Amino acid sequence: MAEIRPVTKENWQDLIDLKVRDDQKNFVASNLYSIAQSQFGDEFEGHWDLFAYGIYEGDTPVGFLMYGFNFAHPEQQAYIQRLMVDEKFQGKGYGRFGMEKMLEIFRAEERVKEVSISYEPENDAARKLYASLGFVETGRMIEDEAEAVLKLK
Ligand SMILES: CC(C)(COP(=O)(O)OP(=O)(O)OC[C@H]1O[C@@H](n2cnc3c(N)ncnc32)[C@H](O)[C@@H]1OP(=O)(O)O)[C@@H](O)C(=O)NCCC(=O)NCCS
Repeated sequence: MAEIRPVTKENWQDLIDLKVRDDQKNFVASNLYSIAQSQFGDEFEGHWDLFAYGIYEGDTPVGFLMYGFNFAHPEQQAYIQRLMVDEKFQGKGYGRFGMEKMLEIFRAEERVKEVSISYEPENDAARKLYASLGFVETGRMIEDEAEAVLKLK
């Protein structure tokens, strides 16, 4: 059964071994970079606390995700910062599972009214996945990535 588990001192080295296909490398930062970033948070229109998790099938790590909260942000209080599934495990529903788990966490948090995400304009798999969950493109570009948002409340 799939589940998400927080990144810890026990599992971070397994998670940095997960890799996307060569042609997907410009779509997502390495998990090593993301786990380093998660220690400090992110600064974009305010400070975002970051939360990093592995996606697991039983005890096998298959993917990685990271989201941020900034409850003081006037528009989107949650941001999906990273989602990847290892090349060996793609196309089996783990990316959708990771998205659904994040949305579950956001729905349970009263202070999250809207969620944002951004992706490379040519990343069709990502666009389709997010659109199928209700994300709508805003037309705004953030560091050369297309922004999409999902209203929760
Ligand atoms: C995007 C990504 C996370 C999807 O994860 P996945 O486990 O392969 O995807 P899933 O099997 O859960 O499929 C979910 C949806 O994604 C879309 N999708 C997945 N693979 C696709 C492909 N090769 N072509 C088109 N759409 C695709 C489909 O809409 C699919 O919907 P379905 O459930 O109706 O089939 C994965 O392809 C990945 O890690 N890509 C490289 C990193 C990346 O681009 N991350 C996102 C950065 S914004």
